[in-house]
Amino acid sequence: MNKRVFINTVGCQMNVLDSEMVIADLKRHGYTVVDSAKQADCVLFNTCSIRENAEEKVYSNLGKLKRAKEQHPGKMIGVIGCMAQKDQETVFRRAPFVDLVVGPGQLHTIPELLEKIDRGEGRQMAVSLSRTDGSQLKIARSHETFDPLRDPSMRPTPFQAYLRIQIGCDKFCTYCVVPNTRGPEQGRPPEQILSEARILADQGCREITLLGQTVNSYRYKQDDRQTDLASLLESLHEIDGIDRIKFVTNYPKDMTERLLTTVRDLPKCSPYLHVPVQSGSDEVLKRMKRGYTVADYMEMFERIERILPEASVSSDFIVGFCGETEEDFQKSVGLIERCRFKNSFIFQYSVRPGTTAAKRLEDDVPREVKIRRNNELLEVQDRLAKEDNLKMVGDVVEVLVEGPSKKTLRETSDHAEGRELKGDGHDLVQMIGRTHCDRIVVFDGNRRQAGQFLKIQVDDASCHTLVGRVQTVDVVSIGLPSLT
Ligand code: 5AD
Ligand code: SF4
Repeated sequence: MNKRVFINTVGCQMNVLDSEMVIADLKRHGYTVVDSAKQADCVLFNTCSIRENAEEKVYSNLGKLKRAKEQHPGKMIGVIGCMAQKDQETVFRRAPFVDLVVGPGQLHTIPELLEKIDRGEGRQMAVSLSRTDGSQLKIARSHETFDPLRDPSMRPTPFQAYLRIQIGCDKFCTYCVVPNTRGPEQGRPPEQILSEARILADQGCREITLLGQTVNSYRYKQDDRQTDLASLLESLHEIDGIDRIKFVTNYPKDMTERLLTTVRDLPKCSPYLHVPVQSGSDEVLKRMKRGYTVADYMEMFERIERILPEASVSSDFIVGFCGETEEDFQKSVGLIERCRFKNSFIFQYSVRPGTTAAKRLEDDVPREVKIRRNNELLEVQDRLAKEDNLKMVGDVVEVLVEGPSKKTLRETSDHAEGRELKGDGHDLVQMIGRTHCDRIVVFDGNRRQAGQFLKIQVDDASCHTLVGRVQTVDVVSIGLPSLT
């Protein structure tokens, strides 16, 4: 079969990785990847259901394909990922021209199901069991990890990769749909993770980011041996070729002393920790069923400051959760002021069908109030981040160069269109890199620097970005023999 596939991906890093896997699988089944839905015989939407607006956007994008499907009935249209798992038959009802619905635990079935559709066997759906549909084991088995051979060409850069170490989540925060869409928490076997990391290193990957919904809760039990994230990091650290290891997203209660000292003692581990707090109010945290108080979070935060003083910490906040008063909200402002996160992702609460909050709590904060609190919190976060970034002016930081900045790509528009690069790669363009602490750095450089580690002298900063220039090499300091 020689078919052309286009995939549109929204949502978190898990989805980016899932799309990489699906494409690798489809390529092995003879598909080629194209850059637009128009050219494709098969269009896949890899979806997110964490907030309502993410879903509405997918339905609206799907609507745009209705005419194309009428004109080319053979074009196969699929909805995959979290929204597929959550909405199931509803996807077919809301968008009757969709041929395929596949949840995140069933992605391995896609090539076979597409073949069935192509043979005229009609619509196909593959979803996992819901959290109340049987025994724990049966439910867990119906959410399969899907990590076959990797396809480096699908990654944003060949020298960076995500590596899943855990699927699902068992925390059941009352607002969150993830435990339903991605199923029970399951750690992947360490041997599988390590062999995948070795493959990535052989493919030229220098930075891996370990993924899990609560990545630091990772556990894998085998006979009487238990592997946790710290011991996994120790093994991954041994792999030649891998220079940087990151892990996201962390759960505050599992940020142990042992994990932090491991990160401190292993130079390849990035001193960057994304640990969402969600709210600065104990009452709200309790209603969210986050399982910790503000004091617990602060204790963890101080542990990070003590063991990893140079670490950067980032967070997520939800504003306007059920019953959040102005006083509660001000406590979130206070927490940001105390912690001075490197950055925070701030979300307005969105009711998710099937969650405990949807069933038991009233979404009683008006939309305008949510918007105002969102803006206010973001303003505080950005002001403090800018202050902290400006303190780095004059420093020299080491970055892994990721590639041309968005500005360069917009101006030359060569990347998105898949055209040949202009010039010989030596032209001076704005490039982007990241520090070990996950700070974004822009500087003038050339495309051939992508994938290299470079020292950058910081000249300026905004809340999200450091601006600098490549540090010129001091001939004396690298010990070259004198020419005289
Ligand atoms: N409404 C708004 N934000 C949410 N998040 C999760 N569920 C919801 C929801 N129902 C946010 C949390 C989480 C991030 C990935 O998305 O802050 O950490
Ligand atoms: Fe959702 Fe909470 Fe699990 Fe994070 S820890 S994925 S917010 S249920």
